Amino acid sequence: MDDQRVSLASLFLVYLVLSEGRCSVGVGSRDEPGYKTRYVEVQVDHFSFANSDTFQLRYLVNDTYYKDGGPIFLYTGNEGDIEGFVKNTGLLIEMAPRFGALVIFAEHRYYGQSLPYGKESFKDPAHLGYLTSTQALADFAVLITHLKKTVPGAANSPVFAFGGSYGGMLAAWIRMKYPHLVAGSLASAASIFQYPGITDCEAYSHVATRTFQRSGAGCPERIRSSWDVIQDLGKTDAGRHNLTSMFRLCEPLAADDMPTLVNWLVNLWMIYALTDYPYAADFLTPLPAWPVKEACHLITSHEDVLSGVAAATKLYFNFTGQAVCLDISQPYYGGLAWQYQACTEQIEPICSDGVNDMFPAIPWDLVAFSQACYQRWKVRPRPYWAVTEYWGRNISAASNIIFSNGDLDPWSAGCVLKSLSDSLIAIVMEDAAHHLDLRPSNPADPPSVVKARAQEADIIEKWIQEYHLTT
Ligand SMILES: *[C@@H]1O[C@H](CO)[C@@H](O)[C@H](O)[C@H]1NC(C)=O
Ligand SMILES: *[C@@H]1O[C@H](CO)[C@@H](O)[C@H](O)[C@H]1NC(C)=O
Ligand SMILES: *[C@@H]1O[C@H](CO)[C@@H](O)[C@H](O)[C@H]1NC(C)=O
Ligand SMILES: *[C@@H]1O[C@H](CO)[C@@H](O)[C@H](O)[C@H]1NC(C)=O
Repeated sequence: MDDQRVSLASLFLVYLVLSEGRCSVGVGSRDEPGYKTRYVEVQVDHFSFANSDTFQLRYLVNDTYYKDGGPIFLYTGNEGDIEGFVKNTGLLIEMAPRFGALVIFAEHRYYGQSLPYGKESFKDPAHLGYLTSTQALADFAVLITHLKKTVPGAANSPVFAFGGSYGGMLAAWIRMKYPHLVAGSLASAASIFQYPGITDCEAYSHVATRTFQRSGAGCPERIRSSWDVIQDLGKTDAGRHNLTSMFRLCEPLAADDMPTLVNWLVNLWMIYALTDYPYAADFLTPLPAWPVKEACHLITSHEDVLSGVAAATKLYFNFTGQAVCLDISQPYYGGLAWQYQACTEQIEPICSDGVNDMFPAIPWDLVAFSQACYQRWKVRPRPYWAVTEYWGRNISAASNIIFSNGDLDPWSAGCVLKSLSDSLIAIVMEDAAHHLDLRPSNPADPPSVVKARAQEADIIEKWIQEYHLTT
């Protein structure tokens, strides 16, 4: 396989796996402790009258702290079962007592139990075509209307949307699209600028590299030097045998598995950076506190580059000591529905040049990407639609959105890092990974995050007061 094809294959996988890897998922479908499960009936297609089908959208409710007329805190669910987001999000319920808030976690269509066509939902483009962010936002808008009608005392309650990652993008967008229903939003790690033409595709790799740089002297340099070692070993049977045993792979590595191995490692470092939390957490997988620092320690303390990289790989996949072998074909998170979204409207280019970052040079190639999407889903991306639909970089006509960002998080590269007006407020949290502010508070939280949460609550209080002055 020539280099070009290696890069292109890598590109597609890097992109998809990353997109999947950025959110939490929970499996299982029991009632989440602390929440009541409810459903609201919504249209499969909010935007045309050609299809009158409806389905049940799941949402979870905690009304313990709710006081009549208090605000509604709505988590705009992203790409996963909603229960996973409840487990990894503490901010709404922790803030609820101060405001007498009703806490709602709404599930995104095509995830968890909210499948428009049940098991048939993923059958073909005709069933999957209703999986768009605009449809999901409309679901949430219908839910808000439903809550205001049915929850006692809520008719005039201000609604605040909260979300992290793609959920943060939805939180921002719902305020932009439905300002009459949503009084304000907290959009954490919301990469609303990570679209073609408005953010450099390398920016993501730069932030990931910086996170490794800050976690161990010489660490990115060691990782950068590992790629040639790995590719050289990949050229011979003996070398691939060596790689198979070093990484404890489940299947012996074949010559044409090399792009998959490289991909798997590129993704691994990127995912390490985004889950670099200050305490042991189980976001995508159980990891120790400050996992990047731990990984860098392993990478730099082994004399041999490959042994160090292999040790850091096992730290990620075998922190619990349960892994029998490592499977490079296993996605970091197998969200089928997100793969489809990433092939249609959520085109967020990521690339690397191998010089200014610690990764191999992997270009962004829309043609190859589109081809792979067509093969997989029989659809082609519309790469520029999101910029048209969601305003590109000029969101100055919007208001009442807090954009919070962790500076360790590669996704911050496509986020709003500077305040754009008095009510489009950016907060950058030092030493914080992917939407750390939304996670349950923890004694190990860095001061920046403690401060951000206090600031976020104060801003919401101000917006609640303004809401009641004007309605
Ligand atoms: C709501 O959440 C709080 C805090 O976690 C918990 O104490 C309470 O039991 C929950 N309410 C319900 C109805 O489960
Ligand atoms: C595998 O390759 C690495 C790097 O070239 C080398 O240090 C190590 O000795 C090799 N191990 C075996 C078992 O061949
Ligand atoms: C995972 O860790 C356990 C306990 O240390 C060990 O026995 C096992 O061999 C490890 N698995 C892999 C794939 O490295
Ligand atoms: C941004 O949009 C506003 C109107 O919403 C317009 O007044 C302003 O000139 C735009 N700014 C830029 C830099 O395009």
